[in-house]
Amino acid sequence: MTFPEVLWRSPSFACPLLVMDAFLRGGVAAAKPKPVEPAGKVERHVPWVEKYRPRAVDDVAYQDEAVTVLRKCLTGGDLPNLLFYGPPGTGKTSTILALARQLFGNDIYRDRVLELNASDDRGIQVVRDKVKQFAQRTASATRPDGKPCPPYKICILDEADSMTHAAQAALRRTMEKESKSTRFCLICNYVSRIIEPLTSRCTKFRFKPLTVGILQTRLKDISIKESVDIGDEGLDALVSVSGGDLRKAITYLQSIHRLKGMEHITEQDISEVASVVPVSVMEGLWRACRSDSYDNIQATVKTMLADAYPASQILMQVHEGLIESNELNDRQKSAVAEQLALTDKRLADGADEYLQLMDLSCVIMNQICRQSTGAA
Ligand SMILES: Nc1ncnc2c1ncn2[C@@H]1O[C@H](COP(=O)(O)OP(=O)(O)O)[C@@H](O)[C@H]1O
Ligand SMILES: [Mg+2]
Repeated sequence: MTFPEVLWRSPSFACPLLVMDAFLRGGVAAAKPKPVEPAGKVERHVPWVEKYRPRAVDDVAYQDEAVTVLRKCLTGGDLPNLLFYGPPGTGKTSTILALARQLFGNDIYRDRVLELNASDDRGIQVVRDKVKQFAQRTASATRPDGKPCPPYKICILDEADSMTHAAQAALRRTMEKESKSTRFCLICNYVSRIIEPLTSRCTKFRFKPLTVGILQTRLKDISIKESVDIGDEGLDALVSVSGGDLRKAITYLQSIHRLKGMEHITEQDISEVASVVPVSVMEGLWRACRSDSYDNIQATVKTMLADAYPASQILMQVHEGLIESNELNDRQKSAVAEQLALTDKRLADGADEYLQLMDLSCVIMNQICRQSTGAA
């Protein structure tokens, strides 16, 4: 065996010089001594939210207004500038992606569609350069193979509510000037964060929260296709923890499936993956508040945080408990609700979880114990 051959066969073959040598001798393929993983393996790691994203506009469930209008565009009608808004996981991104794919097919998709979301820089400079450049390009009404296609391009600005007002303002001129060859689709959760001059240039569609029935059907469909062993009560639990967000529900389902494999999935598993605080633990917190003892509250809050229950989740469940509570009157409930809002804001600003939960619990204690002494 010659010297380079010894090295070539050695498991620690990683020397860049030899890689270059192999490249020069045998082309690109020889420069990669380790074959890439088989294609089937890559497929297995596709997140289910991507795998089960609707491929056609007609596959989008429950958003009838948007689907009806977009269906007309597919049969030759003109496409207006669009603004999709509504809660997360209701099909906004999926709808426009499906439309773009159906309009342009895979061949010219990259040429005709510019997708920018919150992870891309979309400051004023990007709007002035990248978006403007894209919008200024002409778009013919035929594909390279001679078949007809729409004579425009689509610029998708996903999560547009995170764009600065200056960047949004820079967009409005481009939107107007290039209206012949470019359509814009703005997507956001909060329409109030989009400046009025932009909203007035778009046809607005509100994406409604999906109904329990639709969530169940979709989840059931996926669990059958992926051979997940989950019963109706498990699906109900999944729907309730995801709060109408199908993306969240599908992600939970995949995480639980990874965790449990082929085992049967119970409500308990779903609560664990979704970090839902068990009812008994929440009752413990209410009991501590009722006991009128600071020490009790402190011990309970410390244990809850040591068990790694997220403060935001605790807050949400305190809110649910507050609405259902019979021991507080409306005035007391409103005092606690105000504190909940304050605590939520402080936590979002990065405040300490322990101090915030203590503060909230003490307000609840005050309200409950004042009522029991008749001072409310
Ligand atoms: N209306 C819907 N019809 C079908 N699937 C949906 C719908 N809404 C959400 N989904 C599913 O949830 C996932 C996330 O949807 P997405 O379009 O990204 O939501 P959004 O952009 O509104 O936050 C998609 O992969 C899809 O499987
Ligand atoms: Mg989206």
